[in-house]
Amino acid sequence: MVKLYPSLLSTDFLKLQEELTALEEAGVDGVHFDVMDGQFVPNISIGLPILDAVRKGTHLPIDVHLMIEEPEKYVELFADHGADMISVHVEATPHIHRVIEQILSKNVKAGVVINPGTPVSSILPIIKMVDFVLVMTVNPGFGGQTFINESIEKLDKLSKIKNDLNLSFDIEVDGGINDETVESVVSHGATMLVAGSYFFKHEDYKEVTKILKG
Ligand code: DX5
Ligand code: ZN
Repeated sequence: MVKLYPSLLSTDFLKLQEELTALEEAGVDGVHFDVMDGQFVPNISIGLPILDAVRKGTHLPIDVHLMIEEPEKYVELFADHGADMISVHVEATPHIHRVIEQILSKNVKAGVVINPGTPVSSILPIIKMVDFVLVMTVNPGFGGQTFINESIEKLDKLSKIKNDLNLSFDIEVDGGINDETVESVVSHGATMLVAGSYFFKHEDYKEVTKILKG
């Protein structure tokens, strides 16, 4: 069954504990935590103090998505502050191999992310190292954007590589995931869904979890 990680970017931070408890009760698989630095992406979001609060507030796995430059300087910190999974953009560093090794050395699951404009071929040299590949289905930086349809071809390519090489990495999708787009990403190989604005606009998290997980 496909895994669901709601993106806390769209949660109500005024009632964070209530929200985390409701997510646990809804049966989601973890929470997605978006870190933006105002350099790699044109927006600034949340960082370590909020991660500490989330770590205290839930037993759910925390999937930290680093949309930052020079991720090699920060991955250990995010691991020390409770991340269970950390993903870094291949576009954000000339040292992707080293950063993946850094993440794995902290006993945290490692993921590599590709932007809509980045080909799947860019991650081939490190594809056997990672626990998951995150395919951005919008340009990173903001919640509430429209799903980019061309992403589907990338899911096909990745699924083929996964199959040909007999690998078991998860394929995560992030951006514009809702009741209309979920079916096609899953049928093209996505095994992990991130959903922000669509998920949190629902009153009933159990119901929206059921809609997305099928
Ligand atoms: C965008 C973030 C996403 C964002 C998704 O840069 O990486 O995780 O929260 O939001 P929706 O689901 O609203 O597109
Ligand atoms: Zn994200």
